[in-house]
Amino acid sequence: MTVSAPDEPSAVLDVQVTVATAVQMRDLGERLSGLLRAGDLVVLSGSLGAGKTTLAQGIGAGLGVRGHVTSPTFVIARVHPSLGGGPDLVHADAYRLGSRAEVDDLDLDADLATAVTVVEWGTGLVEDLADSVLAVTIEAQAGPTEAADAAAGQRTVRVRGWGERWQQPEAVAAARRAATEAAASS
Ligand SMILES: Nc1ncnc2c1ncn2[C@@H]1O[C@H](COP(=O)(O)OP(=O)(O)O)[C@@H](O)[C@H]1O
Ligand SMILES: [Mg+2]
Repeated sequence: MTVSAPDEPSAVLDVQVTVATAVQMRDLGERLSGLLRAGDLVVLSGSLGAGKTTLAQGIGAGLGVRGHVTSPTFVIARVHPSLGGGPDLVHADAYRLGSRAEVDDLDLDADLATAVTVVEWGTGLVEDLADSVLAVTIEAQAGPTEAADAAAGQRTVRVRGWGERWQQPEAVAAARRAATEAAASS
């Protein structure tokens, strides 16, 4: 008989949690920021209003960067310089970008090495900019009154890691901890 050891560190980062409020989503971003470092690429997906920018705000707060992280109307990518000694935050919104050529025009790779790069709507467009990717998928949980969930309500958040960076057992464990602790916070 084989008994699996539940505490054995796993080299696969794939964790799913329920995030009840916008405050928790921000908290999740702050906690995740603790494991992010220069060169990291984070790709956020989820429909409009899912909470991608809210999560990015938490990452910005956790990194201690200058400026308010917003959903830019005209600016597609913005650099938020670090106020301390940590990495800068590059926050990009690829919603209006249709092709890889347009992504290349942003020159995200110019700042990649010195920044944590967070891209909303970047799925399928930006992953190959870096060797490793932290992918966060946010989904509003369907409730009894579907449409009402856009503004308020629980989100299902899945955090996945690809590439060498996120196969390190310590990184996997830290990301899991960040997600589960954020989901358990009030
Ligand atoms: N559990 C939750 N997680 C994140 N945002 C939530 C949650 N519940 C309600 N909200 C609200 O939903 C909106 C999400 O907006 P935003 O972060 O800009 O989404 P996106 O960038 O994905 O379009 C915010 O107004 C936020 O306050
Ligand atoms: Mg947004």
